[in-house]
Amino acid sequence: MSNQKRLGILTSGGDCPGLNAVIRAVLTYAIETHKWEVIGIPYSTQGLAQGQSIPLNTQTLKFRVIDPLLSTGGTILKSINKGSPQEAEILAGYRKLGLDALIAIGGDGSLAILRTLAQKGGWNLVGVPKTIDNDVALTERAVGFDTAVNTVTEALEKLSFTASSHDRVMIVEVMGRTAGHLALNAGIAGGADAILIPEIPYSIEGVCQKINRVREIFDRHHAIVIVAEGARTVSGDSKTYTDPSGEVRLRGIGEYVAQEICHVSKQKLECRVMVLGHIQRGGSPSAFDRLLASEFGKTAVDLVAQEQYDRMVAWQCGKVTSVSLEDVIAKGAALVNPNDSLVQIARALGIYVG
Ligand code: F6P
Repeated sequence: MSNQKRLGILTSGGDCPGLNAVIRAVLTYAIETHKWEVIGIPYSTQGLAQGQSIPLNTQTLKFRVIDPLLSTGGTILKSINKGSPQEAEILAGYRKLGLDALIAIGGDGSLAILRTLAQKGGWNLVGVPKTIDNDVALTERAVGFDTAVNTVTEALEKLSFTASSHDRVMIVEVMGRTAGHLALNAGIAGGADAILIPEIPYSIEGVCQKINRVREIFDRHHAIVIVAEGARTVSGDSKTYTDPSGEVRLRGIGEYVAQEICHVSKQKLECRVMVLGHIQRGGSPSAFDRLLASEFGKTAVDLVAQEQYDRMVAWQCGKVTSVSLEDVIAKGAALVNPNDSLVQIARALGIYVG
């Protein structure tokens, strides 16, 4: 069997910082060391269905293009974060490319869709986990999470100054549909007083008690509440809006929490709401995400070289390793366990976690 390979690479799902750094690591290692041919597939399955591909080689990509990929956010291969119904076209598009293997950089949803396609089409698939939600199972870290935690932490710090000047409660709504890892980690790192996540029901009375205690004990007249977009109201409902394309999206829980705090405190607490939105997915990857992306990219190429397919690279106990994609998908999204040590640490520090 020849060692020469024709390798495909794509990014799928919502973007995040560090995707380009994975692409860079895969490209340089596959081209420089293995002398393989690398084909980029734009827009994930949509690109496959439409038969699009980009040859990624030193003729088309000079070092001026490859080097900055380490630090540029987003993805040069573009992405889509909705399922593509054209299964037959996707499978036909893939066949036409004549690839020996495919490296897919995606979150749990994208990796599940791509694995199903891989099984049907006989693709040799290797996954690389990415998501600011950090909810891919069997990996302690996904590419993009660390940068997002840093971005939110910085925002909380900045907001605490203005909150302090006006004795206000600042409610900061962050991403996290079902997983509260981002809110929990950034909430602790950014000094939040209350952290509301989808996995743990909160009580508005509990939040208000915490804010009042801070006033009584520390004579601090401002507070920061971080709330994940998927946190539920007291009655268990989520807050949504319908975008112009008719898609129902999460937004509004921050505003709701603010109104409830004002109501319960009989308007004594003045609130302001900040929805951080896609700034959390923007910017340049942190040093940790660059390192993780580089290790993941290199290891994904190693798996292809060893013909170890249907696997995902993973970060466990401070080291890069690989796990079975089947196991990752069977486990579903990795949510915050209410008994997690980080939840206990937050509570021990006096933070309200709901
Ligand atoms: O999956 C990551 C994520 O950031 C979620 O936390 C968020 O709900 C979603 O993407 C938003 O995606 P978009 O607005 O790009 O469709």
